[in-house]
Amino acid sequence: MSFTFRNFPAARDDLRADVLAGLAARPKSIPPKYFYDEAGCRLFESICAQPEYVLCRAEQALMAHYMADMATAIGEVDAIIEPGAGDCSKVRRLIDTLRPAHLVVLDIAGAPLAAAAEGVARDYPRLAVTALGMDFIRDLEAAASWLPAGRRLIYYPGSSIGNFAPAAAAALLARFRRLAGEQGCLLIGFDLKKDPQHLHAAYNDAAGVTAAFNLNLLVRLNRELDADFDPALFRHYAYYNPVEGRIEMHLASLAEQDVHIAGERFHFALGETLHTEHSYKFRGDEFSALARTSGWQPAGEWTHDGFAAQLYR
Ligand SMILES: C[S@@+](CC[C@H](N)C(=O)[O-])C[C@H]1O[C@@H](n2cnc3c(N)ncnc32)[C@H](O)[C@@H]1O
Repeated sequence: MSFTFRNFPAARDDLRADVLAGLAARPKSIPPKYFYDEAGCRLFESICAQPEYVLCRAEQALMAHYMADMATAIGEVDAIIEPGAGDCSKVRRLIDTLRPAHLVVLDIAGAPLAAAAEGVARDYPRLAVTALGMDFIRDLEAAASWLPAGRRLIYYPGSSIGNFAPAAAAALLARFRRLAGEQGCLLIGFDLKKDPQHLHAAYNDAAGVTAAFNLNLLVRLNRELDADFDPALFRHYAYYNPVEGRIEMHLASLAEQDVHIAGERFHFALGETLHTEHSYKFRGDEFSALARTSGWQPAGEWTHDGFAAQLYR
């Protein structure tokens, strides 16, 4: 078994600076990458199992159904690189089919990533697995020195690209383009635009798991930044904005209140929201137009049950 783990310097100062800047802004906002402490990672896995959150199952079904086609379109690869790999479950199907020599997984949640990636290394003894605990928005280029020579496939599933506004998504795709190298390719999965009621239901599951995931951010800030949020005084509020083509997730203040965080005081008016995530939805042609502006050329598209995977070179 071959397994390497490298944790890039903890992002504690970034968290403090980003949160203070986000709370001082109007509207108040915190980047979604801060959802993923250990509890946040577990809650995300639980979201995927909720009956209303069909996205994960649609993607898995798509991959199962079209894997052989995709493998032909992708061709031989030496390394698979997955940014935001989480529990590393989705990449296993690609490993089984493409049989690369190397897997490099990146995630801001270093400890859960290391545990998951070590599990992959154990199950695939001939695969060299490298896990990099990093904020790829900040450190993506630092991953380059950990990549083996040869042909690279960047795998970015789960509609994670939807968490970026279009300009930021294009910038990230351009950075993926450089990381992939000239012969490299990108397999990316995203949620298609669909009936807004279905989207609304997906982010408002009856069991309240998405609400718990959203509110867990406040628990994290209480623990890590010595904040005094009362989660009972905030409500998970998520809705589809059809004009922008995105789910917007917020935490709405249920009272006029002051919150202290890292020694500073912030006022919330009754009903004021703290924005926590955008989740953009796309038409296939919209997404390929975005990817082209980042230097990628379309090389394949597969869709299933409201979900799309596109291949680029
Ligand atoms: C929505 S989950 C998707 C997980 C997995 N790729 C999937 O499709 O099931 C997003 C993952 O990306 C990670 N993540 C989010 N922002 C990140 C960032 N800036 N740098 C590194 N990882 C990030 C999270 O920790 C989480 O594991």
